[in-house]
This record gives sequence, structure tokens and C-alpha cells, in this order.
Amino acid sequence: MKRPFAYLAGVGRCAPERILHNSEFAALGLETSDEWIVQRTGIRERHIAGPSETNTSMSAAASRVAMERAGVHAGELDLIVLGTASPDHLLPSTAVEIQAELGASRAAAFDISAACSSWLYGLIVAEGLMMSGNAETALVVGTEKLSAIVDWRDRSTAVLFGDGSGAAVLKRSKHGKGILSTYFRSDGNLAQLLHRRAGGAAQPFDAAALADRSFYIEMEGREVFKHAVRSMADACDRALDGAKLTGADIDLLIPHQANIRIIEATAKHAGIPMEKVFVNVDRYGNTSSASVPMALEEAMASGRVTDGSTVLLVAFGAGFTWASLVVRF
Ligand code: UT7
Repeated sequence: MKRPFAYLAGVGRCAPERILHNSEFAALGLETSDEWIVQRTGIRERHIAGPSETNTSMSAAASRVAMERAGVHAGELDLIVLGTASPDHLLPSTAVEIQAELGASRAAAFDISAACSSWLYGLIVAEGLMMSGNAETALVVGTEKLSAIVDWRDRSTAVLFGDGSGAAVLKRSKHGKGILSTYFRSDGNLAQLLHRRAGGAAQPFDAAALADRSFYIEMEGREVFKHAVRSMADACDRALDGAKLTGADIDLLIPHQANIRIIEATAKHAGIPMEKVFVNVDRYGNTSSASVPMALEEAMASGRVTDGSTVLLVAFGAGFTWASLVVRF
């Protein structure tokens, strides 16, 4: 089917109020410093959800903004695709909780588990379901409450992650706007480099998992770093090729916000100068599935994405998974 078929009619964002600064980790008993975190990651602070803030509440807030901007009400949604690595419950999906919260009674709702690439995977799945005639209007959400699954005693991961939600409403394309190209891949051979060993059906949560803390996120940071750079670079090339464009045609690159050094390496490979790269990792840390939609919303709100902008979205995460899209606004 001819592209662009679907466009992002409205985008919303929600971040918890509480901001945790790098300087606060010492008081939490972690042997780290603002200097180390800024130098190695570019992160200065992140938003952390309180006990009453859930993926459902943050996603509902982000979705309501996206729906209002798109001029769509909940009853018009045919589809809710939600990406997360930290679902509110293991059963049922967080997507159905959002559906109930929004009152989107006509929608089919389900979660996607592709870690930091989930929101991009979600856009690709939603576009496909629209092309095949299964949906006219879709809501695609990326949300994380990573503070609930991070080991606050592990300095190699605790300083990296943050909470938040981003959402977009997809409608049938008009005026040539929308998704111009997509690319997504995964490699399950590398799953052990970034995972949670316990808490699932293979190794259910029990006293042993509680004692050895194996239900929290574990990551081989240096290895993940190498693969992230390689895969995001490849994903940029593929999405650009798919849209028959080069880096010079891109008005803004919005990469997954994991680490400023990964972002800089990705931009360099794609031939896109840093002035054309959106960065907010300093203020949010790594919010996994929520990272790209939150960055996109900020880019739109600050006027860096306007009518006619051509934007390259790219992400990489646990699995490993990676994905990219070129979108015209
Ligand atoms: O979301 C998608 C997936 N995630 C990512 O893309 C993250 C990819 N990885 C990274 O961003 C980086 O690898 C990290 C930021 C996680 C780590 O940076 P690095 O430059 O790769 O550091 P490293 O892991 O090689 O550790 C260097 C040193 C080690 O000490 P020794 O062995 O050299 O004595 C660590 O123990 O830094 C130490 N270290 C810390 N020191 C202070 C690790 N974490 C900390 C910390 N504060 N928070």
C-alpha cells in the first residue's frame, strides 16, 4: 500500500513531578558522583514516579493530550498499542487498563514488549493494522515506571533510568504527511546482556529471587553500548534508504535517549550534525519505551518539529531490538 498511509495527528507527554538529581544518589547510599554520571552518560536528573503514579495514570495523561491535539475522542479509537518493559501488572496488559481509564470502548488493546524500541515497534504495528483495514484511528503509547524494577543498590543501573509516558494518535494520512519508511529487527542471542532473570514464568518470583535481587534489571553496560551504537547506526541507514533520503534531508534526528555518547555516535554515522539532533537525556535519563515519544513531544512543543519537518526516529533496547522510522510532519 502506498505511503504515507498513517500520520501522527497528535502527540502527548507526561512526566512525574518528582525530579531526582545526580547529587541525591549519595544520600541513597550509592558510591557515585554527579561528575561520573554526567561524563559517562550526559544525565543530570530524571523524573521518578510516586507510589500513586502508575503507567496507567501517566499514560492516560499523555494520551489525553495526544487525543485532544489530534481532535479525537476515546470512542473513536479502534486500537491501543502500548509499549512498556515495566507493565503495571504482569496480567492483564497495561493497554487494557488505559482503555478502561480512557473509556475507549471500541478499541482492541494490547501491549508490545520490545524494551526501548517498543514505541517504534508500536507505530509500525499500528500502521500495519491500519493498512490492512483493521483500524482507522490508533493510539500508540510508550510508558515506563522503571524506578519500580531498578535495583537502587546497583550504581551501574540505578543512575541511568527514569519514569514517564509519551503517546501519539495515528490517523489516515493526508497532505503527504506521515510515516515514510520503517525498519525493525531483533537478536535474541544477546538477551542476557540486558534482562531480568527472575519474576517471569521460567523463574518465578520467590524468596531466592528476593534475596539475590535477580528480579531487578541487570545490564552489561559496556557490551550493550557497543551494540547500541552499531544497531542504531544501521537502523538510521535502513530507514533513510527506505525513504530514499540521506542524512542531509533530515530536519531533526530523535534518537532513543540512553546515553549522550551513544546519541553522538549515532548522529555522526547518519551524517547529521548535533544541531539537528534532539537531546533531553540530561533531564529525563533513559525512559526506555517512553524516551522517543517524550522527546518528540518536547521537540514539537519547542518548535523544533513543525509543519513539513522530516524527522528520523531511532531506538535500541533489550532483546536486543532496534527500530527506525522516517516521518514527515
Ligand atoms: O536503553 C538501551 C540500553 N541501554 C544502554 O544503551 C546503555 C548502554 N551502556 C552505557 O550507557 C554505558 O556502558 C554505561 C553508562 C552503563 C557505563 O559507562 P561505561 O563508560 O561503559 O562504564 P563501565 O561500565 O565500563 O564502567 C567503568 C567504571 C567501572 O569501574 P572500574 O571497573 O573501571 O574500576 C565501574 O564499576 O565505572 C564504574 N561505575 C561507576 N562509577 C561511579 C559504574 N557505574 C558507576 C557509577 N558511578 N554510577
